[in-house]
Amino acid sequence: MTKTICFTNNKGGSGKSTVCANLGYELSKAGKKVLLIDGDMQLNLTLSFFDREEAFGFDQSGNSLYSAVREKKSVKEYIVNTPYANLDIVPSSTLLSQIEYELFTMMQREYALKKCLEAVKTSGEYDYILIDAPPTLGTWVINILCASDKIIIPVEASPWGLFGLANMFDFLEQISEVTKLEVLGVLITKVDERKNYYRQTRESLLGLDDIKVFDTCIHVDSAVEWAQDNSMPVGVYKKNSRCAKEFVKFAEEVIENVNR
Ligand SMILES: Nc1ncnc2c1ncn2[C@@H]1O[C@H](COP(=O)(O)OP(=O)(O)OP(=O)(O)O)[C@@H](O)[C@H]1O
Ligand SMILES: [Mg+2]
Repeated sequence: MTKTICFTNNKGGSGKSTVCANLGYELSKAGKKVLLIDGDMQLNLTLSFFDREEAFGFDQSGNSLYSAVREKKSVKEYIVNTPYANLDIVPSSTLLSQIEYELFTMMQREYALKKCLEAVKTSGEYDYILIDAPPTLGTWVINILCASDKIIIPVEASPWGLFGLANMFDFLEQISEVTKLEVLGVLITKVDERKNYYRQTRESLLGLDDIKVFDTCIHVDSAVEWAQDNSMPVGVYKKNSRCAKEFVKFAEEVIENVNR
């Protein structure tokens, strides 16, 4: 059965797109078939696999998630192969900035994305669908949550990393009234050994009832940024880097926990 997992945190820059892209790649390397959905108008997930010209090409030709939602079509028609086996993507568009207006006049507006994913999901063609979300909590993010079975919350190990997380959990509780959604876990990201925030962040998170904190954490690693600069997963750009190894471990942890 296809598992749909979204990456959500209203705190910007917490590592959602980085984790989504690299987890997707490592799951595909582990033999899983993965479809990535770029749900953010910043195009960061799309840019993780394509250069700017290619990414804006999808945007301008209307071959994007925005068109699928707006025209109420299956995302199947908008799937693009990445350069890697078993890893496909539905690219984003800068037009996604208008999606809140588009949704406003739609019936059952919380479920527009879920409907676009339905055919691909029921076909069972993919083991995983991973959806990258923008750092907001509006109707579009509700769509992303309603289209997902599980959510991974990347949290940055920084003084403000946890700030606003309570809002996020309140929001998830409200969502749970309309859809069944499981928090697969919180992933601590951008850990910097020179600073002392990792332990503090982990202890605060472990104090939360019923929330799994992944054993793996992702360190700050310049290889990640260089990889992104070259539109590559870090596992391709620098396979032996610390972060590349951490994403391999994280993929193993996700596979282990996803059927809990
Ligand atoms: N492990 C890492 N090592 C070094 N830099 C990282 C790492 N993870 C993320 N970054 C950098 O931090 C910034 C934010 O990461 P990312 O874009 O993945 O966060 P995000 O949560 O998707 O942001 P947004 O909320 O804007 O969508 C990016 O510039 C990225 O290159
Ligand atoms: Mg992002």
